[in-house]
Amino acid sequence: MNNFPYILTISSEKGGVGKTTLATNLAIYLKAMQPDLPVTVISFDNHFTIDKMFELKGQQRTGTVRDLLNGTPGRELILQGQYGVQYIPSSDQLTELYQEFKGPMALCRMIAESGLSGIVLVDTRPDLNILTQNALYAADRVLIPVKDMPSLENCKHIFALFDQRGIDKRSLALIPCLIDNRIKYDGIFKDQRTLLKAFAINRGYRCLETYISKSPKVESLNTNPDGKVYPILTHARETDVHGQFTELARDLLTSYQTTAEPRAYLYHRWLQEEESRKKEAFLARLEGIPAHCVICGRALDGPTGKGFFYESADRNSRGFLHSDCFVGALCSTLYHQPAVGPASEASLQMARENARESVAVFVPLQEEDGQYRLRCIQFDRRCSPLLERTIPLAGFREGQFNGINDQLYLLLNESLAGYDGGLRNSWLAVHPVDEARPEQVLQEPSYRHLQEYHQRVAQQLEPRAA
Ligand SMILES: Nc1ncnc2c1ncn2[C@@H]1O[C@H](COP(=O)(O)OP(=O)(O)O)[C@@H](O)[C@H]1O
Ligand SMILES: [Mg+2]
Repeated sequence: MNNFPYILTISSEKGGVGKTTLATNLAIYLKAMQPDLPVTVISFDNHFTIDKMFELKGQQRTGTVRDLLNGTPGRELILQGQYGVQYIPSSDQLTELYQEFKGPMALCRMIAESGLSGIVLVDTRPDLNILTQNALYAADRVLIPVKDMPSLENCKHIFALFDQRGIDKRSLALIPCLIDNRIKYDGIFKDQRTLLKAFAINRGYRCLETYISKSPKVESLNTNPDGKVYPILTHARETDVHGQFTELARDLLTSYQTTAEPRAYLYHRWLQEEESRKKEAFLARLEGIPAHCVICGRALDGPTGKGFFYESADRNSRGFLHSDCFVGALCSTLYHQPAVGPASEASLQMARENARESVAVFVPLQEEDGQYRLRCIQFDRRCSPLLERTIPLAGFREGQFNGINDQLYLLLNESLAGYDGGLRNSWLAVHPVDEARPEQVLQEPSYRHLQEYHQRVAQQLEPRAA
């Protein structure tokens, strides 16, 4: 499990509540308390505080968080920084990535595949953009600093986001920050912290016992002539805040040690299960596919490739067809052209081109006298009908071939035959496939797209059937 880190996200829609101070200093405390633990900080904000704090002189960087979000494995980007803390350099060009992040689980996958271990602390921007959402969903623990009523009010958006997605809110915890111990109130809420905590609990939010005091000393660590940001651990040991960070870091270490399966690992395992589920489904679809072309009866492995895939709407039969066999069938059925002889070469060519660009759907219709007619429709890739024709299937029921539609009869017989000698109440779709990799059509996501296409075809067929 070593390669799946525990993720701590620090988030609040309010700026100036102490997020960055928490992320950077907690990293230092965690590392100081457990020197063999890899601790990594990343930020999705554009203030470069992390870089100012951890950068070692003359360090060669291989990339930034932007590269991480673009798919570069985290282990290739981390730098060993000051105080033993690792970091990935920040970037001020993350906004353009927002629209590429479609879902909220992408970061979790990236971290699962990052090769990072130990604890990863994620500092976020003061909003709930898609990167923040990703950081929230990936987190084993989310710390939400609150310093006043407006920042407490704002928490509801984070909680609502978790509700929307049905994610367990136990990972979320508020921490009162920048608490001015000099402010006292009369009555039961004797100070800022008690007041904030009471309001938090009243709204159903979990609030930590630990809080962070406001300290002029801590505030000054950001501002100095050499443009550095100094840590609380080394430069403000005499303050209350030092003790509070120690307590908070200890609490987080316990949580880290008792989390046997961090979220990145759970997500990774789920992805693997998905993969093997897809593989099994693929193999199941391959099973029972005829080794021959049902039109000509010859093996499909021959020199004329598998150019088309057919499947009945009830999914009871599927298989591949030789390109030439299906194009020949189409040519005679839709264009009334016999598929042999030099005169038909032009129409064969046209049929071939049409067939490669469209999906052919065959719907058997049974007359009162038991004879069949066949509704043939060619749909384009967006499922709009291009060409429609209804032909009689004379002699089909009696098993007689008529010389024009013989190939089609064979295809229908093999794919739609029912138990009673007639055709099933279903229809058949024939899709062009890549001859170089025909089985690809049975893999995800192609097969899912094919099913979605069939649903759209079914909707188009419905009005007639009704
Ligand atoms: N415990 C503290 N006492 C006093 N000032 C603090 C404390 N923690 C943070 N600050 C100051 O408050 C400001 C905002 O903190 P910061 O961590 O940048 O918040 P955020 O990341 O939420 O915007 C900074 O100037 C920082 O130095
Ligand atoms: Mg910040």
